Amino acid sequence: MTAANSKQYTDIVSTDGSALRNPNGPMGWGWINHATGAHDAGGANNGTNQIGELCAVLEALRHHHDSAHLLIESDSQYAINCSSIWIQGWKRNDWKNSQKKLVKNVALIKAIDWEITNRPGTVSFKWVKGHAGNKFNEIVDKLAHGYSSAVEAGTKPARMPLEGWQALLDSPYRQGLAVPPEVLRQVAALKPNKTTRTTASVRHSYAHQPGSQSSRSSITGSDQCSVRSAATLKGETVARCWTQGGIMDDAIRNEVRTAQDVLKKEAGIAAAELVKPGMTVGLGTGSTVRYLVDELGRRHQEEGLDIIGVTTSRRTSRQAQSYGIRIVGIDDVGRLDLTIDGADQVDANFNGIKGGGAALLWEKIVAVNSDHYVWIVDRSKLCDEIGAFPLPVEVVPFGARHVVSHFRERGYEPVLRTGEDGMLIHTDENNYIVDLHLGHIDHPSELAQDLISTVGVVEHGLFLNMVDEVIVGNPGRPTVLVNPFKR
Ligand code: 5RP
Repeated sequence: MTAANSKQYTDIVSTDGSALRNPNGPMGWGWINHATGAHDAGGANNGTNQIGELCAVLEALRHHHDSAHLLIESDSQYAINCSSIWIQGWKRNDWKNSQKKLVKNVALIKAIDWEITNRPGTVSFKWVKGHAGNKFNEIVDKLAHGYSSAVEAGTKPARMPLEGWQALLDSPYRQGLAVPPEVLRQVAALKPNKTTRTTASVRHSYAHQPGSQSSRSSITGSDQCSVRSAATLKGETVARCWTQGGIMDDAIRNEVRTAQDVLKKEAGIAAAELVKPGMTVGLGTGSTVRYLVDELGRRHQEEGLDIIGVTTSRRTSRQAQSYGIRIVGIDDVGRLDLTIDGADQVDANFNGIKGGGAALLWEKIVAVNSDHYVWIVDRSKLCDEIGAFPLPVEVVPFGARHVVSHFRERGYEPVLRTGEDGMLIHTDENNYIVDLHLGHIDHPSELAQDLISTVGVVEHGLFLNMVDEVIVGNPGRPTVLVNPFKR
């Protein structure tokens, strides 16, 4: 890629809450990041739509605590107003409403206020009509609804932010609510009428929670910014955080950023153990692979690990060579013993999306010429169904806009990828990348066939049942998923 990576300055996240038999039925919440596909969901056996909606906003904020602008899309006017317009008056009136009564669901609203106030980046909200074909709203509705049904069926445990539990316990719907005993203890420890700073959700461990991110370490920091006003701007309700110098210090920001990075690093280091002296190794591209290459570089320098590397991008070549690792071209070797690469999404059938770093063409060529093919991901990349991450397609520049029109006609919602400078990015083969914002992919093989037979397309980022194993960064230790379909 000649231009810098296309960095997201705005994160768009859809949130939803859903109570079966509202109020007083099993309840779920969920959020999904439009660009990365990262998502999370939870719920309880009793609750209300409103509490579910607020839990979803709170969890989305907690998982996006960084300096990007965060746009939260919700079909709940209630959640949006609580988080932006109404919150201003309530704060002035010591969290009392116009009838001088304590605001309903105040624990959740205070926590949302704290997250917005202390977030390095600004936050805005956009109302979307529910069940009206907005694909991310549909996905997140399924997440929330699915979780509430699963709690009702007893197949998933109750899972809520502490303030969500507190709102439920303060509500008329506490009767029949199944609250784990440790939650009761933790809720009791939350100080009433104080802005809470906990970032801990009550998380129960259970196998394979697709898309959930690592629990973040608790963040504390002085109130260096405050929400001063709310306004409506181009259909978005804006809760803007004005700084009063400095906002968050770097230590806090780094702490947040590193939660996912730690998982990537652990997966990268675990994968490095697969590399033995004398091997010819394919080295992928991306932030997770960087950790792998760092570890191989360390072993090369400290232990004399002798390997031949074939890389999937010029970036990785430069990094590996900086450690003195020998890098050769793909045509200079026969088959590769092993290739290790990252991925943007992986589903339960070992189908994945790759190309977030615009290197999918070389990545696929290296992959098909490898005896053993491994992905390293943090657990936010696991999903039930691929497609929430925009599918990258590499196209030749000549006639690229016609290819884009063709994709648009087919309903693939294509966007030519640009870099930070607003210029079209070029891959290592000097092609363009078109990202298809599909939301979900019902029939990956048919789509792959359609894309590859489009004139002008060089390759697409669907890597279907190609990977032999996936090393997943999980809190505690990485886990390995072995593809049974390739045995
Ligand atoms: C590059 C890729 C990357 O492997 C993929 O985007 C994952 O990247 P990261 O490890 O930074 O999340 O396909 O084209």
